[in-house]
Amino acid sequence: MATSPTLRPARPADVDAVAGVFHRGWHDAHPGLVPDGLTERRTPESFLERVTRRVAETEETTVAEVDGRIAGFIMVHDDEAEQVYVDRDFRGTGVAALLLTEAERQIAAAGHEVAWLAVVRGNERAQAFYAKQGWVDDGDVDYHVTALGEQFVSPCRRLVKPVL
Ligand SMILES: CC(C)(COP(=O)(O)OP(=O)(O)OC[C@H]1O[C@@H](n2cnc3c(N)ncnc32)[C@H](O)[C@@H]1OP(=O)(O)O)[C@@H](O)C(=O)NCCC(=O)NCCS
Repeated sequence: MATSPTLRPARPADVDAVAGVFHRGWHDAHPGLVPDGLTERRTPESFLERVTRRVAETEETTVAEVDGRIAGFIMVHDDEAEQVYVDRDFRGTGVAALLLTEAERQIAAAGHEVAWLAVVRGNERAQAFYAKQGWVDDGDVDYHVTALGEQFVSPCRRLVKPVL
């Protein structure tokens, strides 16, 4: 039987595993819902570069570890739950709720009253999950992303939750 997940800050040794969860999860959820050209640029190398930089330069990444495996991760930036990803084997197991609750705790601990996140329009599973966790829809938001040097605008919904 799997042990319960442990949450801890990401370390440099986690970068490959986190980038793998990020790459697989992104491609499970986003193709067909994002602007032309973005999906091709979301390569394994692009996630590796992003995660390497974020883990080296910030303390914004928290991982959930189960039996020595990285089951999922969050990245929190200011009042934003910027990334919430759980690997396929761990979806529907409660790991995602644990991670999102930790993101909310970190945002509250930094003094913010309301947390926000952007979810790509049409990402139904993520939207169902966030609604279950008490997040509410706050309207459309254009989310600006850069991928391999190119700028894109993804049509998203903004979700919010009071955390204090
Ligand atoms: C989004 C994510 C973190 C949620 O974690 P999870 O463990 O899958 O979430 P849960 O299973 O607890 O909740 C998802 C809900 O959506 C439902 N669901 C599953 N597939 C669905 C679908 N295709 N459409 C709509 N709802 C769906 C589930 O039944 C579940 O609801 P329930 O608990 O009432 O049955 C995870 O799915 C993931 O990492 N996805 C890929 C990456 C991603 O999209 N990240 C979010 C970016 S904003």
